[in-house]
Amino acid sequence: MLSHKQYELAFAELCSRTSEYQDLNNWLLKNVELLNLGDIEVALSLGGGTGIFDNAFKEFLPSLSRYAVVEPNPAHVEEFKKLIKFDERFEFHQKDFEECVVESQFDLVILSHCLYYMNPQFVYETLQKHTKAWLIFHQSEHGINRIQQRYGDEQTKTKMYCSKNIEDDLAQAKIPYKKHRVDSFIDVSNPNRHFVNFLLEKEVTDQEFETVSSFLSKEYSDGRMYHPVDVLKIDMQ
Ligand SMILES: C[S@@+](CC[C@H](N)C(=O)[O-])C[C@H]1O[C@@H](n2cnc3c(N)ncnc32)[C@H](O)[C@@H]1O
Repeated sequence: MLSHKQYELAFAELCSRTSEYQDLNNWLLKNVELLNLGDIEVALSLGGGTGIFDNAFKEFLPSLSRYAVVEPNPAHVEEFKKLIKFDERFEFHQKDFEECVVESQFDLVILSHCLYYMNPQFVYETLQKHTKAWLIFHQSEHGINRIQQRYGDEQTKTKMYCSKNIEDDLAQAKIPYKKHRVDSFIDVSNPNRHFVNFLLEKEVTDQEFETVSSFLSKEYSDGRMYHPVDVLKIDMQ
């Protein structure tokens, strides 16, 4: 497990290497109607991070009046506030979602690459009476998940699951959803320590760093790792 400081550095390194946010924005510009968002006035984003996603996504919500963000990392919250230029529609809860008392109703709950860090069952059960729709952005079985399943310890392998696992859970609970895949890539050339820490979600040892770096250079000789994002939209019945 990474400390807030280590995670901040690791996540910044990922963001400097991934094309996902740009690819997702381009995809939304062409396909946002596939998400059938309707009139979203009040939204909630869990694990909003530095706001790189939410800041772009708010542009697709023309009726937005309130955007609540739950994010425990203080450095991420500060960066987020600067990015949105202190837009007063945003409100921040700097804590783990598990510590939140949910009282409001939301038109949409956004889970962008954060379900790994929470118990999904707890999230669904806590919020299901509070929202009309869910939007989940999650890693697929490709890219980072492949590295985690190959080199992660048992805890990382379980925690860092992929969208297929979410789909299995939804199918088992008989919850209908729509799925879209957006192609994106990560620059894995010249990996540094922060990047490999992000991949394995821990402060890696010298040995782990060498092993993963050597796998990346052999497996992705052009330095590009395919790492699509899966988008799941769930409308409550
Ligand atoms: C991979 S980042 C994703 C950030 C952002 N949603 C995005 O897509 O760019 C995951 C975020 O979840 C946050 N997080 C971790 N545990 C959490 C928890 N228990 N409740 C809410 N957020 C959490 C982390 O601090 C981090 O900022």
